[in-house]
Amino acid sequence: MAIKKEQAAGASIRISRLEKRFGSVFAVDGVDIDISAGEFLALLGPSGSGKTTILMSVAGFEFPTSGSIVVDAEDLTYVPANKRNLGMVFQNYTLFPHMSILDNVAFPLKMRGVSKADRYARAEEALATVRLAGYGERFPNQLSGGQQQRVALARAIIYRPRVLLMDEPLSALDKNLREDMQLEIKRLHAELGITVIFVTHDQSEALTMADRVAVLKDGKIQQIGPSRELYERPANLFTAGFIGEMNFIDVNVEKVSDTIAVSLPSGERWNVPADAAVESVKAGRKAVLAVRPERLQLGGAASEFTLQAKLADVVYAGSALLLIGTLPNGTEIRARLPGASDLSALAPGSAATFSVPREAVLLYAGETK
Ligand SMILES: Nc1ncnc2c1ncn2[C@@H]1O[C@H](COP(=O)(O)OP(=O)(O)O)[C@@H](O)[C@H]1O
Ligand SMILES: [Mg+2]
Repeated sequence: MAIKKEQAAGASIRISRLEKRFGSVFAVDGVDIDISAGEFLALLGPSGSGKTTILMSVAGFEFPTSGSIVVDAEDLTYVPANKRNLGMVFQNYTLFPHMSILDNVAFPLKMRGVSKADRYARAEEALATVRLAGYGERFPNQLSGGQQQRVALARAIIYRPRVLLMDEPLSALDKNLREDMQLEIKRLHAELGITVIFVTHDQSEALTMADRVAVLKDGKIQQIGPSRELYERPANLFTAGFIGEMNFIDVNVEKVSDTIAVSLPSGERWNVPADAAVESVKAGRKAVLAVRPERLQLGGAASEFTLQAKLADVVYAGSALLLIGTLPNGTEIRARLPGASDLSALAPGSAATFSVPREAVLLYAGETK
């Protein structure tokens, strides 16, 4: 029998004003995150952005310079890791090579003084939960990478923690296996009702897996919200560039009224709706237009927002066609069209008109570097 939801419900976690300094480095610089019981939160950011330090602070392997970590109303900020009862899975599965799979999974219970019969029964349960029933007698080197990572998961959930912390647990696996495991972990999360904090530098992994994603840079949260919100309305240029593919075009702001008039390097003038401005922009200043490649359409029919470009490349990419164009100032524009589009008229070097639907235009203050 597998582990059931009623036995292991998730805890809420409140991370407040968390700060961690290593000498002069602010690894975590004033982070606030409220995680609901049973939520799946991803911490997403480039290498060095502070993800691991936040996770280690929640786990109790690091103590913050200031701030607090409260789990289910209990302040755990300075409670040692072994007193927190949180499950952890790391990138390298760290199974004991000389111990059978069953002994590996049962190990945390042995540490907690659970009787042999009991801990084996629960280890079998945990193995069934990660779909490895019957593998208990084997040794780690007799399992594939994905199976070993599932054993590590079983070991992390065997003492029914309220919270499961995972630090890039899938990054050692190849792409197909990684995608299977993403779904497997999501299923496990739904089944157990456990709260999950999942660290990754892979934006598509974060969007696929999490209820909410917190985007980090230099120890600070850039944006936190559901995947769709992050993708459709990134809060700033960093998030817009880090999540998915995005076209950026430097423009001049001509006038700000009910609409915002901007002039493009390709000569067009667009009157974009005021709510296209994610950040406030001012007349006479620079701004950056942002449009997802899949929102560009070929031809000028789709909207009043058109763009004249010279085609640099046409790439057949299976499910989509990628058109790469350049604007007169050298800005590169990418359009992803459905794979079945008829492009017989298009050749590198020819002129192309693209159009952008009104609701797909985003505007940010400042300029691209
Ligand atoms: N033990 C440590 N000593 C000194 N600097 C550290 C230590 N751990 C992390 N850092 C620094 O803190 C920053 C954040 O690191 P980390 O949390 O590991 O980022 P991430 O997991 O996002 O890659 C980096 O600049 C890193 O070099
Ligand atoms: Mg890390």
